Amino acid sequence: MCGIMAYVGDKDLNSVLMAGLWRLEYRGYDSSGVASIMDGELEVRKALGRLMVLQDILSDRPIGGGAGIGHTRWATHGEPSDQNAHPQVDCSGKIAVVHNGIIENHYSLKEELIKNKHIFQSNTDTEVIAHLIEENYNGDLKESVLKSVSKLRGSFAIAVIVSSEPDRIVIYREGSPLIVGLGNNESLAASDIPAIIDHTRRVIIMSDGELAVLRKDSVEFYDKEGKRIEKKEKEIKWSPTSLDKGEYAHYMLKEIYEQPEVIERNIALRIEDGEFNLGESFHFSPHDLAHLTDIVIQACGTSWHAGYIGKYLFEEFARIHTEVDISSEFRYRNPVMGGETLVIAVSQSGETADTLAGLREAKAKFLKVLSIVNVRGSTIARESESTVYINAGPEIGVASTKAYTSQILQLYLMALYLSKLRWALEASSIDEKLKGLIEIPKKMRTILNKADSIKQIAEKFKDSRDFMFIGRGINYPSALEGALKLKEISYIHATGYPAGEMKHGPIALIDKNSPVVAIATQSSVYEKMLSNIEEVRSRGARIISIATEGDKRIKDISDEVFYIPPCGENVSPILVALPLQLLAYYSAVLNKRDVDRPRNLAKSVTVE
Ligand code: G6P
Repeated sequence: MCGIMAYVGDKDLNSVLMAGLWRLEYRGYDSSGVASIMDGELEVRKALGRLMVLQDILSDRPIGGGAGIGHTRWATHGEPSDQNAHPQVDCSGKIAVVHNGIIENHYSLKEELIKNKHIFQSNTDTEVIAHLIEENYNGDLKESVLKSVSKLRGSFAIAVIVSSEPDRIVIYREGSPLIVGLGNNESLAASDIPAIIDHTRRVIIMSDGELAVLRKDSVEFYDKEGKRIEKKEKEIKWSPTSLDKGEYAHYMLKEIYEQPEVIERNIALRIEDGEFNLGESFHFSPHDLAHLTDIVIQACGTSWHAGYIGKYLFEEFARIHTEVDISSEFRYRNPVMGGETLVIAVSQSGETADTLAGLREAKAKFLKVLSIVNVRGSTIARESESTVYINAGPEIGVASTKAYTSQILQLYLMALYLSKLRWALEASSIDEKLKGLIEIPKKMRTILNKADSIKQIAEKFKDSRDFMFIGRGINYPSALEGALKLKEISYIHATGYPAGEMKHGPIALIDKNSPVVAIATQSSVYEKMLSNIEEVRSRGARIISIATEGDKRIKDISDEVFYIPPCGENVSPILVALPLQLLAYYSAVLNKRDVDRPRNLAKSVTVE
């Protein structure tokens, strides 16, 4: 993962690089660093820990000059430390490199470089790049970077400076995201658009195998053979104000509260006069989809849970056999798939390395590929035949919230669309489901207005260290997601399980006072859920139920109940998500965790 920021121009490097890095912190935050060329000498500042530490160092010892690079790290090779933080520097102390990704052949390269008398200071794979460029340096940074990257295997984006060429930064992309910002007498590069948007809205997205030379008054692009290429710029229209926390204590809380609006906006976008509109990037014709035999959904983390819900929806609404797989498994299992299979990649960032690899795997098998993605122009979106955008707006909190519920909505609509194409459901039933959807944002607001009661539940259970989340049917993936949310931000152990499976092992974990969160909303499996709740309750578990308003039975078998408004079973995961997100949020706050930047995690996982 990691975030790269690069700037060449007249502004103060310390503030521009730091502001960019703050915006990229979601990509990793275990250490950070910057480098620039001051009076012909390379200056490097690095710090272990959160960006605040680097900011303090720069207040005491600022860097200067016209071109600088910065980095915020999520460790892959070498533990988080000052030494392993980027920029990494060559033996001569003249070349500095920041890097996002992994150099897979770093070990053999390092051996060769050591034979050539290079001395390594860190345990990173990145340092190899600095020494390789030093080895190849011939007075032209562009040439030496091109020569060096041809030796690298893996996925990487890099930005490089050298003290003898203080007016430029060279960047290169192979597999990890990198964008260029064209400013007014200034040029920028970063891992993601928010880092540069305060300076310019003119952006160029680098593709794999491309190099750029950034000077303050120009940016030149080259292919990997060194041939000049022209690239198209695009204008970013969204507003940077949507990146502020506003009145909220955390981005996560803000993003939880944005959900009704996101869902409302997407329903309005996707349904026009009762017709489906899956957006301008959805290029499949009805003919392409009418004869599908299978769907395979592949994704990671929270997106995988949304995909899992998608499986229930595609099978129920469109009657298409659907599999769901974790991308890191899918990509290596050589799945058996025929010509009429649609492979769907679900991803908030559109950059997740395993999901991207799964998509490429599907393309290599000549299958139809659709992505459901939040970030426009992201690699997964660009490499898919069709994309349905999640349209959740920038999501900054590492734990995904609004992207998740909007992913479910897109899958719900997609399943209804396929149902219509295949005549799987009656038209009246589809209409009824669409009408039911319109009510969902209002119901989400009702839930959010009762956030305090979730906070009270979180207070009662804040010292518990093991939670079990159980659900059945379409809310089994909701249980998985509830458990993931809790563990990722509060560091409290939590496991999601299909309620009917508890007796095959996990019930052995239940003893007096074990908290069990049971999703027991009105559904075809409601009665079964009640029996499963009784099973754990009779072993002493304390039950926190998520149930439907008007349910009179549930409170007799629960210690706590949170009621959601009545809704259709298949749309219920969108409503169920909210109390689960709030429970995780308040548990994390009460345990004094860094909610938006949980330890060891990063928002965008661009390494496998
Ligand atoms: C990381 C994030 C998760 C996210 C997962 C998949 O692990 O911390 O919140 O669900 O990546 O990311 P994607 O961008 O593909 O949805």
